[in-house]
This record gives sequence, C-alpha cells and structure tokens, in this order.
Amino acid sequence: MMPKPSFLLPTYDTPLGHRLRSLWSLDPSIHFLNHGSYGATPRFVQAAQLRWREELENEPVRFIGDILPDALRVAGARLARFVGTSPPRLALVENATAGVTAVLRSIRWNAGDRIVLANHAYPAVKNTARYLAERYGLHVIEAQVPWPLTSAEALVEAYTAAIEGGARIAIIDHIFSPLAVVTPLGAIVRLCRERGVQVLVDGAHAPGMLRLSLDALGDMGVDWYVGNCHKWLCAPKGCGFIVATPEGQRDLHPAVISNFYGEGFEKEFAWTGTIDPSARLAITAALEFIEAIGLERYHTALRAQAREASAMLANAWGVVPGAPAEMFAAMVTLPLPVNEPGSKEAVARWRLKLLQEHNIEVPVHAINGRLWVRISAQVYNELSDYEALAQVFA
Ligand SMILES: Cc1ncc(COP(=O)(O)O)c(C=O)c1O
Repeated sequence: MMPKPSFLLPTYDTPLGHRLRSLWSLDPSIHFLNHGSYGATPRFVQAAQLRWREELENEPVRFIGDILPDALRVAGARLARFVGTSPPRLALVENATAGVTAVLRSIRWNAGDRIVLANHAYPAVKNTARYLAERYGLHVIEAQVPWPLTSAEALVEAYTAAIEGGARIAIIDHIFSPLAVVTPLGAIVRLCRERGVQVLVDGAHAPGMLRLSLDALGDMGVDWYVGNCHKWLCAPKGCGFIVATPEGQRDLHPAVISNFYGEGFEKEFAWTGTIDPSARLAITAALEFIEAIGLERYHTALRAQAREASAMLANAWGVVPGAPAEMFAAMVTLPLPVNEPGSKEAVARWRLKLLQEHNIEVPVHAINGRLWVRISAQVYNELSDYEALAQVFA
C-alpha cells in the first residue's frame, strides 16, 4: 500500500476552527452547521478510501477473495475496541437504516406483538416498524416525548408510559435526530429488562459524539445497538455497524440475504453481495484521524462549541433551546425566531433561504407546529459560523 499522507492528519496541538477546515473538502464559503445529517469526511480518510479502491481494482477477484475478509476483520476489530465491545459482537453494515432493518426483519413476529418507539424516532425506523405492523398485524406504540423537553425525567417518563402495557421490543433513540437530545438509557433499559422487553438502541449519531461502552449496555439489557460511522466518526458514507449480544445474534440476519445465509453472524454480515467495501475499510483511517486530534479533546471541543453557540443564539434571538443544556452534546435544537407555523413548505423554504442568501447550511425542522433549527458543532467550526446565523434574524 502507498504511504499515508501524514500532512492531512491533525495533531493534538493543531488549533481547532477554520484553520482545520482545509483538512476537509468543505466549501470554505459555506457556514457548514450540519455535520449531523451525513457527516463530512476528512481528506485523510478520503485518501485512505481511495487507496482501498485502487487496491481492489488492481485485482478485484484476488482482493475480494483473499484480502477483503481479513481487512474487514481488522477494521471491525478496531471499531469494536473503540465502541467498547469485542470483535465477535460487531458486524459492519451500510448504515443505521440497514442495521435497524436487519434487527427488525429478523424477529419472528406474532400478530398482536407491540413495538414501542418514540414519536420523534427517525422516519426510516418508523417506516420499517409500520411496514412490519402492516405485514404481521403488529401494534406500534409511540412514546410521546414532549417538546420542548423540560428534563431528562420527562423523556424517561414518555418511554415508561409506552412500555407500561408490555411490548416485544422497544426501540430507543440514543440521540434524537430532530431534537438533538441524548437519552439517558439506563432507566429505560432497566424497565424493559424488568418487563421482558427486548431493546434495540438506535445510536445513529452516537459513535464519535459520545464515549460508548457497548458491552456494558449489553449487560444492562440492550440486545442490539446500531450506529453510524459516517456521522461523528467522520468515516466515508455508507458505513455503520450493529453490536449484538450472543443471544441477540442467534436469529439475526442482514437485511439482504446472500451467499452465507445460515453460516453465522460474522460470515453473513461480511458478505451481502458485491458492494464497494472501501468506506468500511477506511474506518481505521477515520479513527486515526480523530485520535490524532485526541478523542477527549474532540468530545470536549464539540460539546463546548455546541454549548457556546447555542447560548449565543438563544441570547441573540431571545429564545430558549428545546431542552436543558446538559441534555445536548454536539448538536442543539433551538426555535427559529420567526413568527410562522411549522410546515413542510416553510422548512424547505427556510433551509434554501439560509443556504442561498446567507451561505449557511443548517437543518430546519417543523416540530409540534413550530419551526426549529438544529445546529451541529464540529472541530472545523468557529463561533463566527453561528454568528452568521444569528445575524440573519437580527
Ligand atoms: C436517529 C437516526 N436513526 C437513523 C438514521 C439513519 O441513518 P442512515 O441514513 O445513515 O441510515 C438517522 C440519520 O440521520 C438518525 O438520525
């Protein structure tokens, strides 16, 4: 393999902020406040992905037959260590959607089974539950998470009320997509365990944003944990994982059944048909990139930046973020300071207006009839990016 371009790697003392932005391909004219949706891949990681692609195309048959299985094992083992589990518990998948689908479609459902998920669960996850409900006669029970949220207890209470009547499975968002809040998993998982409810955690945003100890969560009663690497781990797009307890692996199959059906968790997930595996193989480079910044420094910087930016915006706009500051990590959701009802049309119009007229990329959501904006904090951002957003409504 070619040597790694070390000039694309930061070091623990590289100053954070706009000077770091050249390590990404991001358009410098845009205030990019939406790392959350799809992540953004550093050039160092893109280069690693390209090297894997070149190696693959150099001799595709030899690569796929002789090199890929071990290379995937190495990437999976590195990721497993990072998220606090052991390699036999982790399988790589395309994305969180594929992971959630694999888990939910593997369950042998009985008519009348109940699936608990939150009203603010990610649409793809809700749709998968709806699809299964229509096919098998299941009931989908929505935990009514209030918004704005006044406390973590209110979030726990919403799930508690939904689980009260029993369920086959509860799907818990570790970090909610539109709300940006971090769910305190402990109390909800304990309750599920007491009631014999299986637990799937949708942790799409968590890897890289939160320190994860997934074996500890498994011991608590999380049967399956699904995460993305292409968001806050900065891996290339199309890169996620499932961590499953040994019991959770027993009848678990990928969303796409392929050549190794019935041959066990590792083999089935390692091959789901011919795909470009370079994103997965570049996980190692993504972890190296974040570890070069310093993992603790990365976590602390994202939280601090999100907190400072949201406090500034809240003050400038005279609004209150959707939840207490300690419930957020690297993203914060605040009311957009406009006097108009939240609608699909308004969401699309505001996002485009902010991008086209102000060079700000930030997601706008309609939640409970009102417009909200979700800011992301990444090491390439500076307070001036958020000040540009504040100024739009000055
Ligand atoms: C909570 C949550 N779940 C699932 C997903 C789906 O992720 P992907 O599109 O990578 O499958 C997202 C994406 O933002 C998310 O926020």
